[in-house]
Amino acid sequence: MYNRRVIVLFLLLLIPLPTVLGWGKEGHYAICKISQGYLSEDALFAVKQLLPDSAEGDLAAVCSWADQVRFHYRWSSALHYADTPDFKCNYEYCRDCHDSYKRKDRCVTGAIQNYTMQLKSADVAGTSSELNLNYNFTEALMFLAHFVGDVHQPLHVGFTGDLGGNSIAVRWYRRKTNLHYVWDDMIIQSAVKTFYDSDLSIMIQAIQRNITDNWSNDVSTWEHCAHNYTACPDRYASESISLACKFAYRNATPGSTLEDEYFLSRLPIVEKRLAQGGVRLAAILNRIFTSKTRIAQA
Ligand SMILES: *[C@@H]1O[C@H](CO)[C@@H](O)[C@H](O)[C@H]1NC(C)=O
Ligand SMILES: *[C@@H]1O[C@H](CO)[C@@H](O)[C@H](O)[C@H]1NC(C)=O
Ligand SMILES: *[C@@H]1O[C@H](CO)[C@@H](O)[C@H](O)[C@H]1NC(C)=O
Ligand SMILES: *[C@@H]1O[C@H](CO)[C@@H](O)[C@H](O)[C@H]1NC(C)=O
Ligand SMILES: *[C@@H]1O[C@H](CO)[C@@H](O)[C@H](O)[C@H]1NC(C)=O
Repeated sequence: MYNRRVIVLFLLLLIPLPTVLGWGKEGHYAICKISQGYLSEDALFAVKQLLPDSAEGDLAAVCSWADQVRFHYRWSSALHYADTPDFKCNYEYCRDCHDSYKRKDRCVTGAIQNYTMQLKSADVAGTSSELNLNYNFTEALMFLAHFVGDVHQPLHVGFTGDLGGNSIAVRWYRRKTNLHYVWDDMIIQSAVKTFYDSDLSIMIQAIQRNITDNWSNDVSTWEHCAHNYTACPDRYASESISLACKFAYRNATPGSTLEDEYFLSRLPIVEKRLAQGGVRLAAILNRIFTSKTRIAQA
């Protein structure tokens, strides 16, 4: 009995887990930093109430939490992405939002709906907490902030067969890696090193300036959801698979070496996705926590 359990545990450790982590730490940090600058007063108040003390009021401090717990909360690991059938460059909720056991809703867009719905039921003022016992709103906030980031990483809505680029081995300059990791981390890390004096906060400031100077006309389109929905993750996912096909997979076949040409042409895509992720996370939280004020007063 004991032996068998040890063997099962041992086998579990040997199974190559799909290593589809979200944007790297830097990407999630950037999205949440940008987001915090766009929060309404109500939303900022609610977020600060919900953040764990260790975050010291900084949403960005907990934006990689969902990656840290994904092996402890095994059920959550499918919630980081939504892959499409191979070579399909469009996304459809009913077809694509499931885990590897085909359980529906278990994907990044389903998770965004789930945690949006949970937070809408939150009563931050704490007057009717018996309604809220089923949810941990601190976790809901940390999951939501992370998954809104993930759904904006183009290869989080990539093809199923290559695990969103995880099984496409490439070189990033001289370093051996895979295509998914290039989009999670390497592009951002190389940009920070090359253009931003090795300081992520300078890159974040440049993106923030771009939002106000260059993309100000686009921001309300980014924020908007049809039918006044609180969140519209299907739209973000559709954009991602389209960008994955046009930019991420293109000229990145197994074994290829990606260098300046790929880096410099893809970096603006990454920067814009970080901007959109940040602006939209704020828009979602702003919508959640105004409807919430009403609930709290009822
Ligand atoms: C919804 O959230 C709960 C609580 O974290 C979790 O147990 C459940 O798996 C989530 N479902 C989806 C589809 O995200
Ligand atoms: C909610 O989740 C956080 C983070 O996992 C945890 O520290 C806290 O104890 C949880 N709260 C409750 C009431 O379970
Ligand atoms: C805005 O875009 C222009 C043209 O693409 C570029 O030259 C400029 O540096 C951008 N501004 C910022 C703040 O990045
Ligand atoms: C969205 O909300 C606005 C303001 O509350 C309202 O005027 C508009 O009719 C709503 N649109 C839809 C499609 O429900
Ligand atoms: C700013 O916007 C310009 C034009 O869209 C783009 O080329 C550039 O990469 C962006 N830079 C940052 C830091 O977002």
